[in-house]
Amino acid sequence: MNFDNLINDYENLINKKLKTVYKNGPKSLVEVFNYVINSDGKRVRPILTLLTNHVCKGNIENALPAALSIEMFHDFTLVHDDIMDSAKLRRGSATVHSKWNINTGIISGDVMLISAYQILEEYENPLFSKLTKLLNKTALEVCKGQQYDIDFEKKVEVNHNNYLEMIRLKTAVLIGCGLKMGALIANASQEDLEAIYEFGELLGIAFQIQDDYLDVYGDSISFGKKIGGDIIENKKTILFHHAMSSGSINEKKELLKWYDKRTGNALGNEKIDAVKSIFDKLNAGEACMKLVNDYTKRAFKKLSHLNISQDAKNIFKNFGNNLMKRKF
Ligand code: IPE
Ligand code: IPE
Ligand code: MG
Ligand code: MG
Ligand code: MG
Repeated sequence: MNFDNLINDYENLINKKLKTVYKNGPKSLVEVFNYVINSDGKRVRPILTLLTNHVCKGNIENALPAALSIEMFHDFTLVHDDIMDSAKLRRGSATVHSKWNINTGIISGDVMLISAYQILEEYENPLFSKLTKLLNKTALEVCKGQQYDIDFEKKVEVNHNNYLEMIRLKTAVLIGCGLKMGALIANASQEDLEAIYEFGELLGIAFQIQDDYLDVYGDSISFGKKIGGDIIENKKTILFHHAMSSGSINEKKELLKWYDKRTGNALGNEKIDAVKSIFDKLNAGEACMKLVNDYTKRAFKKLSHLNISQDAKNIFKNFGNNLMKRKF
């Protein structure tokens, strides 16, 4: 089967199965749940779980619950993240807390989180225990990363390495986890498990840097989120770090002036334009995409440690190269 067909099949299967996850709760909660799972997510993480399981010669039926679990966990993080980031748009539609309210965002996110764990009950020990431990470790790391992300909004002394560690925690470990779950289920060797996880982590770092790029330079219709949201929230992304390390004294002063104050909606667009023009002048977008490319290449290097065929490695490379071209 060719690569695109394989990915399409996985996506369809995941979308079909997601609809069966939560049906018996209060109607109001089921409605919110369905709103989230029917929205247009890329399904990057569960597809990677199935892909890894495939290249490690596992059985897809066995990997499906883990794939669903990882997507449910991801959806939970998005609903709560949108509350934390005051985001109004997600996957091209209103975010849960802005369409309903914050309480609905909290409780529906909780349902997604708990569902993510409940789905894993389909596995018997020792696999159940291995998968649960991995998800527990990952979940705590994601919370840590999300807290750093919020802390950094108010902190000026955040450097490039702090940023990399923050995105490793909030985003990359979940991608590593999705991949490792697929390999665990396929009974991969310890060496392969480690290499797959490291591949996922590096790809995840590239993925988040690109998300930060698209937040400034993407197109809202295809990206499905509001452009400039990170600027409004004073997120210390790589674009900000690049500008702070390469700008003139005046440019840095100007940038800090904008990042120093909560401008609110009234000055929102003015702030976005002002900050973006500093980023433009300093080629921050190019620097950002160069890093995406560097981390993707570093991820590919990890594939050489994997005991799988060259064809199988090419599947991962195709996936990584497609991610780099994404507009959403
Ligand atoms: C969004 O993840 C959150 C980040 C880690 C950047 P995705 O870009 O995978 O979101 P969906 O699931 O496709 O909407
Ligand atoms: C994503 O960070 C990390 C998590 C959701 C855990 P962002 O805040 O950049 O994600 P988006 O851009 O809102 O999707
Ligand atoms: Mg966000
Ligand atoms: Mg966030
Ligand atoms: Mg983002």
